[in-house]
Amino acid sequence: MRRRFLAVLGGVAMAVSLAACSGEGAGGGGDTSSAKPSDLTIGVSMPTQTSERWIADGNSVKEKLQAKGYKVDLQYAGDEIPTQSQQIDQMITQGADVLVIAPIDGTALSGQLQAAAAAKIPVISYDRLIRNSPNVDFYVSFDNYKVGVAQANALLVGLGLQNKDGSKGSATGPFNVELFAGSLDDNNAHFFFNGAMDTLKPYFDAGTLKVKSGQTKIEQVAILRWQQETAQKRMEDLLTSSYNDGSKVDGVLSPFDGLSRGIITALQNAGYRGGAKKMPVITGQDAEVASVKLINDGVQSSTVFKDTRLLADQAVVAAEAFLKKEEPKANDTKAYDNGNKVVPAFLLPVQTVYKDDIKSALIDSGYLTAQEVAAGRAG
Ligand code: BGC
Repeated sequence: MRRRFLAVLGGVAMAVSLAACSGEGAGGGGDTSSAKPSDLTIGVSMPTQTSERWIADGNSVKEKLQAKGYKVDLQYAGDEIPTQSQQIDQMITQGADVLVIAPIDGTALSGQLQAAAAAKIPVISYDRLIRNSPNVDFYVSFDNYKVGVAQANALLVGLGLQNKDGSKGSATGPFNVELFAGSLDDNNAHFFFNGAMDTLKPYFDAGTLKVKSGQTKIEQVAILRWQQETAQKRMEDLLTSSYNDGSKVDGVLSPFDGLSRGIITALQNAGYRGGAKKMPVITGQDAEVASVKLINDGVQSSTVFKDTRLLADQAVVAAEAFLKKEEPKANDTKAYDNGNKVVPAFLLPVQTVYKDDIKSALIDSGYLTAQEVAAGRAG
């Protein structure tokens, strides 16, 4: 009741004084530093449940916070921007003490963030940077530029142009490759693509890699909302428009396992399987179980593994720091300018997984079981 009242008032001074009097959780601006965890609520806003990683992220953050006694309001927005805005509005009016947000569209939440700031609710941007707002207090993510570098290197390794240790490979090319990027409204998509293109540039310049479609700008290769079906359709269109002269695709830069599966379906439907028309080298990201099976079966070449359990840990560390009225520890204070300010960040490392790494990186670490990999699905 008190919380709804506060939300209606929206007055920060009033909120602080009432919270102080009641002695329970701050609920939008009060002094959380001496409150019991069970009186504090963390709102966690995740973009979608269509991709495994966000389900794993949501569950991990929730479990880790609950294990420390906090209340958690976890919501998924079904990749709909208005739904996410509404869910965050509600978290604010219901008195969340910290918000952890993985945005669908990095630029679409400034209204919500303004309301959060007015209620003195710290905002942690989770995995994806919230853009164009001064009201983002911290960012927890992976080194997204290095994800793109890793994807480009995996493409080069798969083609034999480079060895895993970074030395020059025995292949000479030239090879036909096609490029895919993620959703333009996701800040990460740009970091992945830039990291990849910076790494591949010398090979394009030397003519070792060629993009027959000529589509090399992120605007031309981006896939809205990271949709598998859209990627499949684009790959089908590329095959029809640029490879109907008997030429073959040798490699595909794909930034996400879901897109890779769409690309693989298009290629399989066009007869790419083995022999003279063998499946191109295809990259990925997220170590989704269906794709790890494809890697194990030799269909997809690699994925970039980002351990969402570690990211959830960092989100919890940052949330607790804010609740104690401390600043979370950043390990990067330069890379993530959100268009309004540079957001202090804690970035985690990433790991490329080829077939040979599945056991050590994914199974031995308990991320997936051998049975799940064999079946290609979780559970
Ligand atoms: C994440 C990736 C994910 C993609 C699609 C990006 O923001 O960083 O891990 O593959 O969204 O969900």
